[in-house]
Amino acid sequence: MKRIGVFTSGGDSPGMNAAVRAVVRTGLYYGHEVVGIYRGYEGMIDGEMALMDRRSVSNIMQQGGTILQSARSKRFMTTAGRAQAYANLQAMDVEGIVVIGGNGSFTGAKVFMEEYPDLRMVGLPGTIDNDLYGTDYTIGYDTAINTAMAAIDNLRDTAAAHNRLFFVEVMGRDAGFIALRSGIATGAEGVLIKESDTDKEQLLQQLKDDFSTITRSGIVVVAEGDESGGAIELSKEIQTLYPELDIRVTILGHVQRGGRPTCMERVRASQLGVEAVRQLRAGKSGIMIGQIGHEFSYTPFAKAIKHHDRVDPELLEIVKILA
Ligand code: F6P
Repeated sequence: MKRIGVFTSGGDSPGMNAAVRAVVRTGLYYGHEVVGIYRGYEGMIDGEMALMDRRSVSNIMQQGGTILQSARSKRFMTTAGRAQAYANLQAMDVEGIVVIGGNGSFTGAKVFMEEYPDLRMVGLPGTIDNDLYGTDYTIGYDTAINTAMAAIDNLRDTAAAHNRLFFVEVMGRDAGFIALRSGIATGAEGVLIKESDTDKEQLLQQLKDDFSTITRSGIVVVAEGDESGGAIELSKEIQTLYPELDIRVTILGHVQRGGRPTCMERVRASQLGVEAVRQLRAGKSGIMIGQIGHEFSYTPFAKAIKHHDRVDPELLEIVKILA
């Protein structure tokens, strides 16, 4: 395997740069040439590729986002788009590929490899949502929960000053991991996630017991994918039930996707980048390389994208006990 390609795809996440750096430098360390593919599958289709050297990944570890840029590619969902991407990879002599992304990126990789079985691809989990099966850790998640935590801490100050109830919506797509962790870390009075169907009842009961006197402030963290429809919808419902409450809504949005990666993020993304190249060199393909505890885990793309790890019921219990 002479040339290894690397690209980032789907929603960017802090720590992707550390993973890219690790792939490039490990590839070079073992005597390969490394090709950076820009803008995910879009750039692969448009032939936006360039050889990378050690210095092309200097000083990027501390930056959020991704120097290779990213995209969600509609064209790659078409046979013609994938054929063009394959032709461009052939022209660049790319034999092994590391894709850093989430669900959509691995779904694309799986279809691509079925059509072109000579392609060798391994994946690294890159998403703030932490919603991939087969890994405890996804690149970006740790930074995102710390960003959410810091923002909610700020809201807590102003909520307390005015005796207000804040509904804070966090990202995660269909998964409640960001909501649950940031909610526990900020002592939220309630956390609402799709994975639990009793959290709303619990919140209503709590409001009845504690908040009707309007003597307390509070924070309720709502996952964007929660069945309540999100923080705005939920706040309207609660305001109707309790018109006396002084309610405010904050949607954290994309602020959670950027920022300097945490130390843990940089170290783990580096470990994964090194392991991705080693796995390609060992002839492995079609797998996502993650971490369970301190061990590497290897999950076929088909499995990583189909399942969503269960939320730890003990964490939900902790929210209830400590609220
Ligand atoms: O998958 C990462 C994520 O940030 C989700 O949490 C969110 O639902 C989605 O991407 C937002 O996507 P976009 O950046 O395309 O609006």
